[in-house]
Amino acid sequence: MLKLFSFITAFILLLLSSADAIVRTNDLSTSEVQDWAEITTARLVACYYDNSTGLFTNELKWQSGSTLETLANFVSLADSPQRYIFSETFKKTDPFIGGNCFDDYLWWALAWIQVYKVDPHIEYLQRAALIHDFVSDRAWISTTCNGGLQVCPTNTYKNAITNELFLLSSMRLHPYTKLLEKPPTYYLERALKEWKWLEKSGMINNEYLINEGLRSCVNDNRTTWTHNQGVILSGLALLYSVTHNSTLIDIAQKIADATIRHLTYPNGILKEACEPKCDTNHRSFKGIFARNLGYLIPYLTDATHIKKYTLFLRLNSVSSWTTSRCEMDGLFNIFWDSQLPDACDAPRDTATTSSVLDLFISTAKTSQTTRKTAKWMVIGLGNCMDDNNASMPNFYQNAISEDLCRQTADEDKGAVAYDYQISCTGYGFCRIRTLSSESHTPPGFEYQDDVARRVTTTNKVTIASCYVKII
Ligand SMILES: *[C@@H]1O[C@H](CO)[C@@H](O)[C@H](O)[C@H]1NC(C)=O
Ligand SMILES: *[C@@H]1O[C@H](CO)[C@@H](O)[C@H](O)[C@H]1NC(C)=O
Ligand SMILES: *[C@@H]1O[C@H](CO)[C@@H](O)[C@H](O)[C@H]1NC(C)=O
Ligand SMILES: *[C@@H]1O[C@H](CO)[C@@H](O)[C@H](O)[C@H]1NC(C)=O
Repeated sequence: MLKLFSFITAFILLLLSSADAIVRTNDLSTSEVQDWAEITTARLVACYYDNSTGLFTNELKWQSGSTLETLANFVSLADSPQRYIFSETFKKTDPFIGGNCFDDYLWWALAWIQVYKVDPHIEYLQRAALIHDFVSDRAWISTTCNGGLQVCPTNTYKNAITNELFLLSSMRLHPYTKLLEKPPTYYLERALKEWKWLEKSGMINNEYLINEGLRSCVNDNRTTWTHNQGVILSGLALLYSVTHNSTLIDIAQKIADATIRHLTYPNGILKEACEPKCDTNHRSFKGIFARNLGYLIPYLTDATHIKKYTLFLRLNSVSSWTTSRCEMDGLFNIFWDSQLPDACDAPRDTATTSSVLDLFISTAKTSQTTRKTAKWMVIGLGNCMDDNNASMPNFYQNAISEDLCRQTADEDKGAVAYDYQISCTGYGFCRIRTLSSESHTPPGFEYQDDVARRVTTTNKVTIASCYVKII
């Protein structure tokens, strides 16, 4: 955000002589999808982060751990005032907040390692290590199926996700053995043991998709959820980065290819098997796949695969942004290609929104530069302001959708910027910064008198976004 903002500010300064807040596309190389990530991050934190519990409302506790990782990833992309939640969450949660099962704990362990990378307080890393030891000591059962982790202390089911999470968290902790005062191969040995078992377990089927788990020590042929095709990708990538065994990358590519081939709609948009009737757990899965595909890409050398995966992420991002965002509350619904006339007609909550945020962040991280295609560009969170912090001459309207706000700005020849604010309770407010006179006030809008000036900044209110016109 700061980087984007100072760039835009510098650019706008060049334009001051030519009046108004119109920005030219030619010199823009900032990523549009990063703007989408920023808007979504700000909204999740402003409206759904519960400062008293350190958890996100309307999602499960393991999912709050997963969303914490998502926010750490956003902060690694663009620093953000939302980073305050890292220390808040640490203070308000205990290591085993995620639920009652080993996989619940491991989502949080993974998150704390990602948080440590952007906010290096050793206690975050130590918490991850504590969770990891706890799970390693209790969940690995060698007396059935020759090993592997079972899902809960009280449930002996050996499933894919618990084992994939263990592989990935082992490899994420591996670079920190010294810092954590462990022997050099402490985590690597756990990872190798896990992968050796997982590969032979039968959970990876003939199509190179991973089913849910084992029954009587053979593949149970249950649903191939997208997150199970995701977490494995970065586990293998990290194991490859240490062992240099390129077969691991081949396997990761086969799993990613199989997902794109079999777990998508005909137009290439990722599909969860349960759609449209997904329960709360399922609602995070696609984002977890996208996040982990994004983690894999930097380890690849094959140009065809790199291109294929980055295009896949872009396609899905554009589809989600344009079809699945409910304009009345800013939440994304469960479909990444919502065929509905109104995106607000499909189920949506913090989990579905956090899932799309993962997709945006992965896309922004893996697409270097994205040419602006839109007519309007976000200059930042907040209401549009001029350099005197003053309000601009406006047309404004309450209780309006974002579509209608933008459309009205589009139709007004004098419009140079608009901002749109959706309160956390889903109440839209639109203000169009215009050079048009009172006589041009669109129906339903009111005119606020002032002297025309430029839009150069925003007031940083996190539930509003300011867009300036691109020419
Ligand atoms: C969150 O709560 C703590 C006190 O528990 C307070 O110090 C902090 O300012 C709060 N942060 C926000 C952004 O509300
Ligand atoms: C899953 O399918 C395979 C291949 O058809 C079969 O061998 C295996 O027994 C099935 N697993 C279960 C638990 O039925
Ligand atoms: C590389 O990884 C593959 C897949 O797990 C494994 O079969 C093979 O033995 C590994 N090679 C070495 C040298 O460890
Ligand atoms: C605008 O507001 C910012 C932040 O409150 C302040 O630092 C700055 O001095 C203000 N600028 C003017 C011209 O009042």
